[in-house]
Amino acid sequence: MKTIIVSNRLPVKMKEKDGEYIPMPSEGGLATGLGSIYRQGDNVWIGWPGTVTAEEHYGQIEEKLKSQNLKPVFLTQEEINNFYEGFSNEVLWPVFHYMSTYARYEQQYWDYYVQVNQKFKAAILEVAEPGDVIWIHDYQLLLLPQMIREEQPDATIGFFQHIPFPSYELFRLIPWRNELLEGMLGADLLGFHTFDDARHFLQATSRLLPVITSSNMITVNDRSVVVETFPMGIDYKKYESLAHMPSVAHQVRNLRERFQLQHIVLTIDRLDYSKGILQRLQAFELLLQLHPEYIEKIGMCMIVVPSRDNVQQYSALRDDIDKLVGNINARYRTMGWAPIHYFYRSFPLEILSALYNLADICLVSPMRDGMNLVSKEYVASRIHHDGVLILSEMAGASKELIDAVIVNPNNIGAIARAIDEAINMPILEQRRRMLPMRQIVEKFNIHHWVKLFMDTLNDVKRNQQSML
Ligand code: UDP
Ligand code: G6P
Repeated sequence: MKTIIVSNRLPVKMKEKDGEYIPMPSEGGLATGLGSIYRQGDNVWIGWPGTVTAEEHYGQIEEKLKSQNLKPVFLTQEEINNFYEGFSNEVLWPVFHYMSTYARYEQQYWDYYVQVNQKFKAAILEVAEPGDVIWIHDYQLLLLPQMIREEQPDATIGFFQHIPFPSYELFRLIPWRNELLEGMLGADLLGFHTFDDARHFLQATSRLLPVITSSNMITVNDRSVVVETFPMGIDYKKYESLAHMPSVAHQVRNLRERFQLQHIVLTIDRLDYSKGILQRLQAFELLLQLHPEYIEKIGMCMIVVPSRDNVQQYSALRDDIDKLVGNINARYRTMGWAPIHYFYRSFPLEILSALYNLADICLVSPMRDGMNLVSKEYVASRIHHDGVLILSEMAGASKELIDAVIVNPNNIGAIARAIDEAINMPILEQRRRMLPMRQIVEKFNIHHWVKLFMDTLNDVKRNQQSML
């Protein structure tokens, strides 16, 4: 018996160099979070290898991935344009993040979404054997649970949604809303990060479909589907032990000398309008305006990882960030100091760990975020129990990390005040907040999350069988 993990993106992306394909780590919470667990036994992870390539290269890529328990689903350029950039990221992503004015409801996007979900179905059926557990992830594959159920009525299917599930008033805007819910209900267990996401899903289902819903259970054609909350964790030990590594300590010293700052505010996100990057920059500018005493003493280290830059709103956001960073730096810089160190690229894990260790303040201010793992990685990296996490109340993580300085990301003044509060926070208060957050991140780690989801899925299946 094996577990088949299925997600649009594999935890590695293949990069071509002189005709050879080399696996590089993928970014994003799904890939980094599950990256630690899929290698066990015969388990296999099915997904897109992050590149569009000619068919003649498929064999080479398949071979390379096989040794890592990975199975690629190749997508054509049209599928990337319509399924990935189109339906997934110009319909589902904006609506599910409460930015419905960005959505483009194109019929062609939907047709490709169905087609690519079918492609994933075919890949699963190639490897699925009776008794296997099929665990499908995220909004790109909402139709897949039901597609598999039709082929294998007894299959054990779990589904986890890594992004928010919006309130009914938003969800109902989508022309294909019923088909999406029916697709998801093919699973035996549906997991969400927060109680509100689960509640929104239950409400949408009971209002749109002729199903019987009681508490967290939905009955569909005599089959019961359970909806539960599983806040995703991180590999706590990995981040804690990285922080103890001499090479990371060396990087921290190196960076400290280069930055020459009393206070470093760290921000790390993928390029995304859901992350509140512009509002955060405005807040930082306001802080400099209100507190000129911080000039030459504070710096914002802002990492933005390139993402979905063929989607119009993402490239526009990139231009807006460039402009705003340029303006703020031009206005406030002195001969030997600039307020914002902006990097538009990804970094290796050791550098990220060094930055988490170096920064006395980590500012995580998304407009909406399913969970947000960066906030948990910062907490896990703070081995001296100091540092201040400023966290948006719109991130799933804020339900667990209640000792962070919690802010409304739309309130620029409140973010500026929170940074000021963080700068002046006594060390005892920093520890009073950081210690319980570390305990939570340690206890509810990624292994705990996987086990809880799998145990619940097994229970759901056992209960279904006992009711036959
Ligand atoms: N990340 C990365 N490389 C980088 C910067 C960030 O792999 O250069 C990772 C980061 O460590 C985190 C993930 O990307 O694990 C982002 O996950 P999060 O849940 O915060 O947001 P998402 O990108 O999933 O919306
Ligand atoms: C979020 C989503 C993931 C996605 C990741 C990176 O974490 O929940 O499903 O893989 O962002 O986005 P990308 O579009 O590059 O896969």
